[in-house]
Amino acid sequence: MYTQAGGPSWEVPLGRRDSRGASLSGSNNNIPAPNNTFQTILTKFKLQGLDVVDLVALSGSHTIGNARCTSFRQRLYNQSGNGQPDSTLQQSYAAQLRTRCPRSGGDQNLFFLDFVSPTKFDNSYFNNILASKGLLSSDQVLLTKNEASMELVKKYAENNELFFEQFAKSMVKMGNISPLTADDIWRERSSLHQSALNGSSSSEITELPCKSSCNLLPMGSSLQNLYIKCINSNPRKGSVNNEALHFCDSQG
Ligand code: HEM
Repeated sequence: MYTQAGGPSWEVPLGRRDSRGASLSGSNNNIPAPNNTFQTILTKFKLQGLDVVDLVALSGSHTIGNARCTSFRQRLYNQSGNGQPDSTLQQSYAAQLRTRCPRSGGDQNLFFLDFVSPTKFDNSYFNNILASKGLLSSDQVLLTKNEASMELVKKYAENNELFFEQFAKSMVKMGNISPLTADDIWRERSSLHQSALNGSSSSEITELPCKSSCNLLPMGSSLQNLYIKCINSNPRKGSVNNEALHFCDSQG
């Protein structure tokens, strides 16, 4: 898709262990929101092993696609609770956006993330930001709230090649963010076993990642209730499901 829109291509490493399910709360908690502060967004990236270079380059993906009125309305009317629009949003661009994104209603109305070349993968997203015409607050803060990211926005606005190169690298890096592997689970489970045998309290047990589908634990197992409690309270993604079942099987 990126190359069809004129963007870079890259080799995708194969064999990624992927999630067997999706978690709405997991997504909502971990994925940055458009009105998050720069620091919050960067922290969320860092928690996934991505740095400020990745953040700025990957945000360049907003060179294509749309956002709904509801994703940036706050900037048009009441950015910081004082009834004023976001001062970092260019005024006539803001006025234009207000015509189709009213104070109330029109939540689903769509707007180009990059109004200059909305279907072309290029670096005009960064030039828009330099002109105070980034659509989302999360776009504009890349220029206004942090020195390092400001420099990167300027660099990518100036040099399309550099943007493409870094975008491809950061996409591979993002693709390598791993869900838990079988080994991770095994290690955690072994230490859980150990602490349970040592008489540790059940509160530690709830730290273990496991999955609600683990319903095959043998009745009467002393660990059963602890596992079920933990499993029900801590649904996780990736290979956990499989591994939880494996654990259950091995107990049966
Ligand atoms: C840096 C933090 C990010 C924030 C806060 C953010 C936020 C958003 C929001 C609010 C929208 C519009 C959704 C809507 O209104 O329905 C959007 C659209 C989009 N985002 Fe991001 N995003 C971020 C990073 C990324 C990254 C890393 C990528 C990919 C590499 C990406 C790719 C896209 C694309 C392609 C669209 C357009 C979707 C469409 O047209 O249907 N975004 N983003």
